This record gives sequence, structure tokens and C-alpha cells, in this order.
Amino acid sequence: MPAPHIGPPPPGAAADWTIPQRWDEYTAEEHAVWDTLFDRQAAQLQDRACAPYLAGLDLLRFDHGGIPEFGELSERLRKLTGWEVVCVPGLVPESIFFEHLASKRFVAGRFIRRMDQLDYLEAPDIFHDVFGHVPLLGNPVFAAYLQAYGARASEDPALVTRMARLYWYTIEFGLVREHGRTKLYGAGIVSSHGESEYALDSTVPNRLGFDLPRVLRTDYRTDDFQESYFVLDSFETLLDRTLQTDFTALSAELDALPDLVPGAVLTGDTVLHRGTRETAVAA
Ligand code: CO
Repeated sequence: MPAPHIGPPPPGAAADWTIPQRWDEYTAEEHAVWDTLFDRQAAQLQDRACAPYLAGLDLLRFDHGGIPEFGELSERLRKLTGWEVVCVPGLVPESIFFEHLASKRFVAGRFIRRMDQLDYLEAPDIFHDVFGHVPLLGNPVFAAYLQAYGARASEDPALVTRMARLYWYTIEFGLVREHGRTKLYGAGIVSSHGESEYALDSTVPNRLGFDLPRVLRTDYRTDDFQESYFVLDSFETLLDRTLQTDFTALSAELDALPDLVPGAVLTGDTVLHRGTRETAVAA
């Protein structure tokens, strides 16, 4: 995710904020953290993640094991969808982040959490960025959505709050219907051991049909599991809606309506599951 600040890139970073990954400098312990997380999540996701995500996981399986090397990873991705993965020092300014997406470059951090903090959630590390996001970059429809998202978000800086909500409720925390069942695809879910169970199995959160204007009005929480998840019919629908929507015009219309709290359930919502949280309100 982008950070809401601007400024020059830090020392050692290029004008587009990229840095060398310095893969040779990862320690055996750091590679072991990756392998531990990878094995745990790959097993947990077998019956939970959507098929395109599971198909894309093979992108991350290298003979050398451990943390993927971005050069090798990009070579594999380019053959499938033309995307590549580049390394950045941490959170980058929004305009830089969106430009990279529009140019089919996914930015990933370099650092990895420690072995004693496997369920670490504070800031995205390389496990979140790569295990969470990269498998779906091998899917042509989802990759086209991410590029279209970056292009749309680049067009109008005034849209940043609404576009951040769209990113959050799709790319980070989205669910999708597949053969009559709800499956995971959001990177924040699939990279989290706890949330990849909670998002599908818990009775606590709402699971609502995805509706673009509705999502653009909805605040989100960054400090806990989500209170509402939005469920897509298909990635094709998401891509089509993104390509066909004039976000500036839609946002102007939505400015006349109140923003919504994360747990809200509206009378017009398609409710797949109504959550049991007390904060859920009809509006
Ligand atoms: Co992310």
C-alpha cells in the first residue's frame, strides 16, 4: 500500500524509489522464516483460496527454496502477463505506487518478519507483498485489473481516499465466488494465518456482494480483522467495472452521500452473511 506523504526517495533509492533486492544478503534464518510461513499458508489455503491464486503459487516455488529472487520471479511473470516485481525500501508515495502498477510493476519490500513473530501484522513485509500479491499477478484478468486500477488512480489525485478503499476491499481483503462457493483472493487475507480462517469461517464479519459505489463509500480498519468483506462474482466483472467507470464523476456523485463505517449493512446490500458484531448497523 502507498503512504500518504511525499518527498524525495531515501538515499540509495532510484527516482522511482526502487532499490536492489540484494538477495545474496538474506540470512539462512530469513530464508527459513519464508519457508515456514510458505508451508503453513500453502497448506491452509488449499481449500480456501480461489483457483487462480493457487495456480499462481507455483510462481514462487524455486529450486533454491527460501525467499524468491525478484529477477527470477519477474522472468516467470513476464512470460505470463508482462508484470515484474521490483524492490522498494518500504512504503512509497501514492503517485509512485500507482505509476508502478499502471506500468505493470509490483513494488515489494525487502525485509521479512522474525521467526518469533510469524503472525506479525504491523507493516507489510516481503512475505505479505510477495506471497500475498504475486500469485494473482500471473492471472491475465486479475493482472489487467491491477494495471487498470493503477492507471485510474493515477489520473486524479483527489480520488486517493476512495481508490484506497477499492484497493483495500479488493486487492487486500477481497473474496470471490467460485463454483458456488466463496473463496479468498485478497493479499491481506491469504498472507495471514488467522484471517484466512476468519474471513471464510467466522460468523462475526459481514460478507456482502461487491458493489463498486458502495465500496468507494466504505471506511476500513487497519488495526484488526475486517468487519465486512465484499464478495465478487468474478474477476472479469471487477475488471469491466474498473475499465468502464468514470471515477471522477462517480466520486462527485458519492460526495452527496455519507461515508459508511466498516461494519455497516445497507438495505440495498446483497447480504451473503450478516455479521454478529454489535457495531453492524442498518443505514
Ligand atoms: Co498488500
